[in-house]
Amino acid sequence: MSLFRKKSISTILKNAETENQHESLAKHLGVKDLTAFGIAAIIGAGIFSTIGKASADGGPGVIMLFIFTALACSFAAFAYAEFASLIPVSGSAYTYSYVAFGELFAWIIGWALIMEYAIGNVTVAISWSDYFSSLIKNTTNYTVNEWLCLDYFTAKKNYELVSSMLVAGVPLDEIQKNGQTSGLIEGFVAYGQAPKLFGLRLIFDLPALLINVIITMLVYRGIKESRNASNIMVLIKIIVVLIVIFFGAFFIDTKNWNPFLPNGIGGLLKGISAVFFAYIGFDAISTTAEECKNPQRDLPRGILFSILICTVLYVAIALVITGMVSYTELNVGDPLAYVFEKIQSLKWLSGIIAVSAVVAMASVMLVFQLGQPRIWMSMSRDGLLPKAFAKIHPKYKTPSFSTIFTGVLVALPIFFVDINMVTDICSAGTLFAFCLVCAGVLKLRMDPTAPKSKFKTPYVNSKFIIPTLFLLTCFLLYFFNKSWFDYYLKFESFNAFVTKIPMYFFFLGFAVISVMSFKFNFSLIPTLGLLSCFYMLSQLGYKNWLYFTAWLIIGLIIYFAYGHKHSKLAQSNK
Ligand code: ALA
Repeated sequence: MSLFRKKSISTILKNAETENQHESLAKHLGVKDLTAFGIAAIIGAGIFSTIGKASADGGPGVIMLFIFTALACSFAAFAYAEFASLIPVSGSAYTYSYVAFGELFAWIIGWALIMEYAIGNVTVAISWSDYFSSLIKNTTNYTVNEWLCLDYFTAKKNYELVSSMLVAGVPLDEIQKNGQTSGLIEGFVAYGQAPKLFGLRLIFDLPALLINVIITMLVYRGIKESRNASNIMVLIKIIVVLIVIFFGAFFIDTKNWNPFLPNGIGGLLKGISAVFFAYIGFDAISTTAEECKNPQRDLPRGILFSILICTVLYVAIALVITGMVSYTELNVGDPLAYVFEKIQSLKWLSGIIAVSAVVAMASVMLVFQLGQPRIWMSMSRDGLLPKAFAKIHPKYKTPSFSTIFTGVLVALPIFFVDINMVTDICSAGTLFAFCLVCAGVLKLRMDPTAPKSKFKTPYVNSKFIIPTLFLLTCFLLYFFNKSWFDYYLKFESFNAFVTKIPMYFFFLGFAVISVMSFKFNFSLIPTLGLLSCFYMLSQLGYKNWLYFTAWLIIGLIIYFAYGHKHSKLAQSNK
């Protein structure tokens, strides 16, 4: 069927070679650069910012979440490594899906990856702006106007909330003092002070826009320049993270690790999206395949080294921050700086952490902003997007139009979206891609005629392991958490039913994968990758599933209106 028309690996490699003969990308990257790019993309807003709330909700048990997520990401990293070695072209998960599942899935993944890279960068840019503004304030005493640090809708919403509290007689300083409402003041002030243009209040996040412009210019300028900048930024952030772990370890009070799970598993799982967000990024390096000197050897190593290094650092950081202060204090936007501010003799460190957070987040933006244009470039080469997306700058050897288009796409939401919403959506898009890449490895391995990758994930037969895991999960839930079982089997109302849909999907998928593992002797590592990423996806809440489905529907409309007709594969099959 034409929707599932597939590309063979040899065609993809031949096409990439032909394209490269005309307008080639510059090949400057080795294994060290790739590992650095991986670390550059991974360590950022997640560990410096969003894990604060995850730790406050989950308590010290958040360490378990870090370990579970690291395992899930490592399984997926093996799948990426295998594909990257087999098909070293810039399209990453998009191209891998083209080979494994055909064009429609490839398009869907390419479309979902916009959530990871472009929308992910919106989150990072907003967090960067928060850290940057407070850094400016603390070092120079200059306060950036509130209306230049926030998006319009958040400011409006907070203005209305505070105004209604004032009308109800709550004094402003009380709102300011109360931990639950103090965060609203920024928006209140921003909306109140904003100048008006054609009757509309001018409110936007200027630092977030500026960093986006700078990064876009750097990425446009060249891969070598981007690599050098990334290497320096990675060095700075690793040194600072090691300092945090080293000094922090002396101030751990093991009493803070008790209770370990103050809000139970429910509280812990609230942090899943934030913790997963902290690990996103290792996959982005596969988009630089055509700029590597020896991609088949170096890409798998770069992917696996970077995830391993970051896992060790993250688990150590989680142990340190939850050990230094009570988890109840960690609901802050800058948790690493916060824990050191509380220790008189180490206050100086919090300033250094703030500077390195700014550097770390800029490096994440850099790699994501590199990744997105290269995926579009591959989609355009296949005819699924207009030709301009594959255009390479004659002098700088970068995908010029796609790079600028990415910059614009990141800039627009900065004006109006709320950071929590984009973090969740970014995690949803990425998990979806991870699931398909793991499933793609399983699918390819079912085909005995498929070419073999130079890098191979160690094979362990999952024939009995996965079905046993499924039965054991059902058994444990039934006998030790009967209320969970009852909750999911009971129909209360349509609204309650909708919220349970992601979990139903997960269990259905788990059952199907168990049967397939038994029948086709699936390899254990990609199967566990698929299951664990699918589980995390099921925990993101039905609203994110709704947004994500809406996003996919828009994507499908565009595919049928343009890509399906212009696909080069369709034309070559005629
Ligand atoms: N992992 C990246 C970060 O935490 C996306 O910023």
